[in-house]
Amino acid sequence: MAFQAVFAAVLLSTFLFISSSLAQSARTINVRNYGVVPDGRTDNEKGFLRAWNDACNGNGASILYVPKGEYVLGPVVFSGPCKGPIMFLMTGVLKALPGPSDVSNWINFRNVNLLLIKGGGTFDGQGPSAWRFNNCAKDPNCKPLPINLKFDSVTNSRIEFVKSVNSKQTHISFHGCENVNITNVEVLAPAESPNTDGIKMGRSSGIRILNSRISTGDDCVAILSGSSNIEVSNVHCGPGHGISIGSLGKYQGELNVQGVTVTGCTFSQTDNGVRIKSWASQFQATASNFLFQDIVMDRVLNPIIIDQTYCPHTTCDQEASSHIQIRDVTYRNIRGTTSSEVAVSFECSKKFPCKNIVMTDVNFVHSRRGLSLKSTCSNVNGRSFGLQSPRPCF
Ligand SMILES: *[C@@H]1O[C@H](CO)[C@@H](O)[C@H](O)[C@H]1NC(C)=O
Repeated sequence: MAFQAVFAAVLLSTFLFISSSLAQSARTINVRNYGVVPDGRTDNEKGFLRAWNDACNGNGASILYVPKGEYVLGPVVFSGPCKGPIMFLMTGVLKALPGPSDVSNWINFRNVNLLLIKGGGTFDGQGPSAWRFNNCAKDPNCKPLPINLKFDSVTNSRIEFVKSVNSKQTHISFHGCENVNITNVEVLAPAESPNTDGIKMGRSSGIRILNSRISTGDDCVAILSGSSNIEVSNVHCGPGHGISIGSLGKYQGELNVQGVTVTGCTFSQTDNGVRIKSWASQFQATASNFLFQDIVMDRVLNPIIIDQTYCPHTTCDQEASSHIQIRDVTYRNIRGTTSSEVAVSFECSKKFPCKNIVMTDVNFVHSRRGLSLKSTCSNVNGRSFGLQSPRPCF
């Protein structure tokens, strides 16, 4: 155990070393030497995979270099474990194949430790050619379109200075990941693009999203079952559906969500600001220890919302109660304008009322001068301090 910890620390410092400008010791693998052509037409899947395999299987640190240019790339899985840290140095533009596709992911990193993606490049999912084939807004048994960047079991890694545009579905998604820092990332898709969540995660811990901009058609950030120790800081969201914890309670066997901090974020004309949502189902879990602090909102429809009656489809039992226990949630120094009358809405479960909701200095005005605001609550146990507008229900 101790040996493993020391070994991990050594690898991590090697990784931090190659991520600085002093990259002399790393081997550089240029995708252009693998038959990859940046002509905006040729599918470069095979060349990229061969380049990845050489980078992954070489001893020591490797730089997988994608020079400037526009590369078409079919769906790929970049699999580890690799023999050393890998820097995916993306200065070009990768373009997905146009049209609908029945694969789950476009670019999938799997089982990689010490991955660094950077370089100012763009992952273009070609969403406009596929969004009209999305049927998930209506059909709960739909087959979703591919995710732009999917990370499965990726650990001790960083994603910085890259852009995801027009994903066909979710832009960036994490499953089973640990200690991944996402900084200076830009996510961009139109407000009306369907199901294009910005950054989504489940069964992951230590995911940190910092200094980034997310403008998309669905949640800017969605934190799902089994997430813990999550940080979202200095992120701009809008357009989009806000930063959401959940939805939870949709499936059997969901895990607790624990420890989420959202600080220094701004929201512009989003549907929601900070939202916790759960389905009215019998599936049980706890969602706890959340801090929302130093947040500014501009014309947001539902700035602060807990919705435990979430049911976007019409097939839910209106009498059922959510079995998700929400507790220990703090809202501190949150202000701005709201475009609807209800600025604060806590609709908690009758069976599992929300516990220990704390509000300190929550100050909204209506974006239309002179209109008043209100809070609505059911089944909440909470306290409020300092300045409050609208007047809280507790
Ligand atoms: C991510 O950031 C945290 C906090 O600054 C730091 O402790 C951690 O080592 C970073 N992880 C990586 C993989 O760079």
